[in-house]
Amino acid sequence: DGGSSSDSGEDSGSGDVITVGFSQVGAESDWRTANTESMQETFTEENGYELIFDDAQQKQENQITAIRNFIQQEVDYILLAPVTESGWDTVLQEAYDADIPVIIVDRMVDVSNDDLYTTWIGTDSLLEGRKAAEWLNAYATAKGWDASELNIAHIQGTMGSTAQIGRTQGLEEGVEKYGWNLVAQQCGEFTQAKGQEVMESMLKQYDNINVVYCENDNEAFGAIDAIEAAGKTVGTDIANGEILVLSFDTTNAGLTDTLEGKIVCDVECNPLHGPRAEELIKALEAGEEVEKLNYVDEEIFAYDDTVASVTATNSLDEEGDYAVTVIT
Ligand code: AHR
Repeated sequence: DGGSSSDSGEDSGSGDVITVGFSQVGAESDWRTANTESMQETFTEENGYELIFDDAQQKQENQITAIRNFIQQEVDYILLAPVTESGWDTVLQEAYDADIPVIIVDRMVDVSNDDLYTTWIGTDSLLEGRKAAEWLNAYATAKGWDASELNIAHIQGTMGSTAQIGRTQGLEEGVEKYGWNLVAQQCGEFTQAKGQEVMESMLKQYDNINVVYCENDNEAFGAIDAIEAAGKTVGTDIANGEILVLSFDTTNAGLTDTLEGKIVCDVECNPLHGPRAEELIKALEAGEEVEKLNYVDEEIFAYDDTVASVTATNSLDEEGDYAVTVIT
């Protein structure tokens, strides 16, 4: 019964080593490094696993090759952290036909038949984007800034990845809802180098940017370098000529920048999926049913408590608006 079965690891029960093939996107960000480490620290020999790790260097074709190798090696489980949402039907069908359960980690896959993967563990990128947008609105309102004063530069993540799609939607909804000016929008590929390059060119083109919405911390680090190199200041008050930087991930370095007010608001994206993936594997080994989608709860961290808390949900009301609670 294909990859949705929970029994394909049967010959690896009772103390046998469980072989796990992990196709990782790459090493584009600090977040990704933490995610890789979490997997490597979890799926160890001492814990009864053999981990076959493959770094796809941000290329889907490398991930497809890795999955085919895992199938040939007859691994017990495949963990896939997909670069983009689309393009997985064929290779996941092959894994399904080989009766190997596939656990999707972090970003999602958009497949014609959801049976092609067993379960998914990750964070809610759309909710993250909505929380950032609601935080920005609440912060600007508390500071007495008119929505029309906010000139936003948007540095996007890898196009077509769940993290990009959700965080972009969150911002675009905010632009629509509150009437901010979205002056520039470009992909920074989730890397520091590209974030810096994109920010440099945006600053050359527009001299009115006062908010930068980066879709991850590494892009934010690059953007901050570019802003400072251009003789401008990142900070918390556009009325003083400072540029607000918003980001996602809450890596150690990201939170350090948040404490210093260089990143005004950082929305958590938790990378520590190793133990969560192991829990799913243990449940499957025990023949238990697992949830198809497993979301991790997350927080939002800001430089100060102008906005005490923001929560949003993805359920839409009759007007098509999502529910949101902001405490200032
Ligand atoms: O998919 C999660 C995103 O991918 C993280 O926000 C980013 O840092 C990583 O590269």
